[in-house]
Amino acid sequence: MDLFSAIQTRTSCRQFLPDAVAKDTIAKILDAGVRAPSPLAVHRHHIIRKKQAILDEADRCRTWAVEQSGWKWLTAYKMDFLLQAPVLVAVVGDPKKSGMDRFQEDRPVGYQLACAAAIQNMLLAAHALDLGSLFFTLFDKSRLRRILDISEEKTPVALVCIGKPGEPQKAVPRKDVTEKTIYID
Ligand SMILES: Cc1cc2nc3c(=O)[nH]c(=O)nc-3n(C[C@H](O)[C@H](O)[C@H](O)COP(=O)(O)O)c2cc1C
Repeated sequence: MDLFSAIQTRTSCRQFLPDAVAKDTIAKILDAGVRAPSPLAVHRHHIIRKKQAILDEADRCRTWAVEQSGWKWLTAYKMDFLLQAPVLVAVVGDPKKSGMDRFQEDRPVGYQLACAAAIQNMLLAAHALDLGSLFFTLFDKSRLRRILDISEEKTPVALVCIGKPGEPQKAVPRKDVTEKTIYID
């Protein structure tokens, strides 16, 4: 699959088949992640087995999010994919290794941007290998640290769920790029 086809046809996957993903396939996807741009090449990956604890945390966080936002549709959002997906990768950043933005902003964000770039590479790589994937963030960082035994200095930025897709996903429509672009001469 060429890069532009991968970009155009990737969709979030929220239903996975239980089929295992080969270790060398996972390694290929993680390698795509570490090749992303990063201020100090700092993100690390944890491959996760504690799926039930993660689902419990996501459920707790969803209840909190419904209370905070009043978004009733969130109550119908099922997260069984956290148990189904044969591979969950936690992408973990280090705020101390965030590049110059550590000195420019109140809070460093470069390390989070680097994690997001790595995640996008991983999503595209998974898709190019005919796997489904999801960028997942519905958790409290401090609780996820405890579940995954990640030190206080590091930040779990997102989970990436990966596996064979259960059913074809509908593409979320996008606006035409010209509607989203301001050209400055
Ligand atoms: C920063 C970020 C956080 C996200 N968190 C979640 C999440 O917690 N749960 C989820 O189901 N999807 C999550 N998504 C996926 C988006 O919902 C999805 O990308 C968007 O609806 C567009 O759909 P598509 O990926 O199929 O094109 C996240 C995406 C991004 C970029």
